[in-house]
Amino acid sequence: MTQDTHPARKILVTSALPYANGPIHLGHLVEYIQTDIWVRFQKMRGHACYYVCADDAHGTPIMLRARQEGIEPEQLIEKTHAEHAADFADFNIRFDNYYTTHSDENKDIACTIYNRLKADGHIDVRTVRQAYDPEAEMFLPDRFVKGTCPKCGAEDQYGDNCEACGTTYSPTDLINPKSAVSGATPVEKDSEQFFFKLGDFQGFLEKWLDAGHTQTEIANKQKEWFEEGLQDWDISRNAPYWGFEIPDAPGKYFYVWMDAPMGYMASFKNLCDRTGLDFDEFWGQDSKAQVVHFIGKDIARFHTLFWPAVLHGAGFRTPSSVFCHGFLTVDGQKMSKSRGTFIMARTYLDHLQPEYLRYYYAAKLSSGVDDIDLNLEDFQQRVNSDLVGKVVNIASRCAGFIMKKFDGKLSSQLPSPSLQQELVAAGEAIAEHFEHREYSRAVREIMALADRANQYIDEQKPWAKIKEEGKEQEVHDTCTQGINMFRVLVIYLKPILPELAQKSEDFLNCGELSWQQLDQPLLDHAISKFKPLMTRVEKESIDKIIEATKQHMATQAKAAVTGPLVDEPIAAEIEFDDFAKIDLRIARIVKAEHVEKANKLLQLTLDLGGETRNVFAGIKSAYEPKDLEGKLTVMVANLKPRKMKFGMSEGMVLAAGPGGKDLWILNPDDGAQPGMKVK
Ligand code: 2FM
Ligand code: ZN
Repeated sequence: MTQDTHPARKILVTSALPYANGPIHLGHLVEYIQTDIWVRFQKMRGHACYYVCADDAHGTPIMLRARQEGIEPEQLIEKTHAEHAADFADFNIRFDNYYTTHSDENKDIACTIYNRLKADGHIDVRTVRQAYDPEAEMFLPDRFVKGTCPKCGAEDQYGDNCEACGTTYSPTDLINPKSAVSGATPVEKDSEQFFFKLGDFQGFLEKWLDAGHTQTEIANKQKEWFEEGLQDWDISRNAPYWGFEIPDAPGKYFYVWMDAPMGYMASFKNLCDRTGLDFDEFWGQDSKAQVVHFIGKDIARFHTLFWPAVLHGAGFRTPSSVFCHGFLTVDGQKMSKSRGTFIMARTYLDHLQPEYLRYYYAAKLSSGVDDIDLNLEDFQQRVNSDLVGKVVNIASRCAGFIMKKFDGKLSSQLPSPSLQQELVAAGEAIAEHFEHREYSRAVREIMALADRANQYIDEQKPWAKIKEEGKEQEVHDTCTQGINMFRVLVIYLKPILPELAQKSEDFLNCGELSWQQLDQPLLDHAISKFKPLMTRVEKESIDKIIEATKQHMATQAKAAVTGPLVDEPIAAEIEFDDFAKIDLRIARIVKAEHVEKANKLLQLTLDLGGETRNVFAGIKSAYEPKDLEGKLTVMVANLKPRKMKFGMSEGMVLAAGPGGKDLWILNPDDGAQPGMKVK
């Protein structure tokens, strides 16, 4: 049955709100492209579908980032909003509203929801002991405390879990904890916090999760939380915090994850106020509209436990669907800064058309939560062979004849109505695939139809027949059929490739293509001059993207204002030949001395096994000179001598560590001899 025979649905669609402190990258785009395709499909089918999103503008990381940049948080989020909006627009992600969580509408909604929850007894106040940075004078989120894992002893672990052994703990359990904000040792401090009593909604959530609002595996995963009983959720943070102050609680702010999903409502509210749409028709308790969230599987818990419970508790309707997707890998691996595969949206756009990526993601996406892989070689090959080689090829093969031989006008008949009907009849199955987010299946079917169309033209051989006497009409009809088959394929591809569709509409001179016109072929109709609709993806463009990404990351790494414990990003990848140029040798520290007036340097005399070198090393904070004498270390022996303020430095000693007292020169094991090559 076709969706179109039903009355138009009312659908509100959202994608997760990106944080306002970083650029959009190709990983983010999996979701925005997935959502945008779904929304465009619904709109094309005649439904009243609205797509809203916003920047997620609150929280400690945004506050600290603004501080680092020496600007106000408002300035940071404004700048990021403009960048995000431009990236999305250039990828043809067509929001009906792209807003911010730092808005009056969101503040109103957050306060209304909180007040209703409080009035109904779903908010508890409790004293909580938390890590506090006495130097920065602020409570520290778990991710801003680092130290040694209490379980396995791995160093430099975040305050919430150990990446080495997987243990979860609280920051106060860490051995030798340090604040990532100031480097100070955090102390523990009590404060009052507000808790949302999630446990009040356990029964409701069990039913909600069983009702098919999200994928089964996601629902099952959430149900594991029920086993130990749902924990109350701390929804408040102490000043200084960047967010909304909680009503009647000076110095307490809503935790960013409290007001973030409300940003969906606030963005829609802002749209309603501007366009006259009825907010309550979508969010009221008796709403008949659909509310559909697209999110990554990592934030399923917020969207399938906290969010429905908060909405339900505050008397709003709950989401119809929470569709989760997997992560992006590039060439089979996590996106990597050093390999140049952590690609920003803008870097991609500098070199390639957005539609290539939209098509490739669509060809890979399904309704499941598996990760999808962007294989760069396959990407190039697939776009070129499917879009340029198959789809666009149909139009370019036929358009020339129509223009040159038939005055730009299509004939009055299709020579193979049954073939045309075959293409049209596939429409319902393809629509079902779009509806159920099985885009890879839709793409597979569309390409099979493109193969059929090309095969037909191959069989008819218009290029040979045009040279034969009396075959003109046949050629005219064949090419008319070709153009009409192309038209059907473009209708199917339109949610994925809006730009190609737009150019095709110009070429076909046919107005806006919609699903409803599938079976109304263009006959006796003048088309426009054919202009190339799409060019091939060249390998050089992909190489340039990788190279530009490496450069970008290297610049970022240099510019990064890193706190004492924040890891420095890895610099751009180098060739083996670059590495091989470095001659690492064992050296004995014969003499180590203070350098007058130098804050950081020690002067070392190094024995390289027959040759002595004078080297200035920035390790004064970590070593007493006398402790170094007699030790072996590793040095770069072929570094060009550099003239420094205190004399000539003839090489470099290798050391590691975060700095200060924790800086260790590399100490080879016993058995090494001065002058030995390090391999
Ligand atoms: O994980 C994230 O990137 C969050 N900024 C997503 C928020 S989605 C919604 F809840 F606002
Ligand atoms: Zn551990």
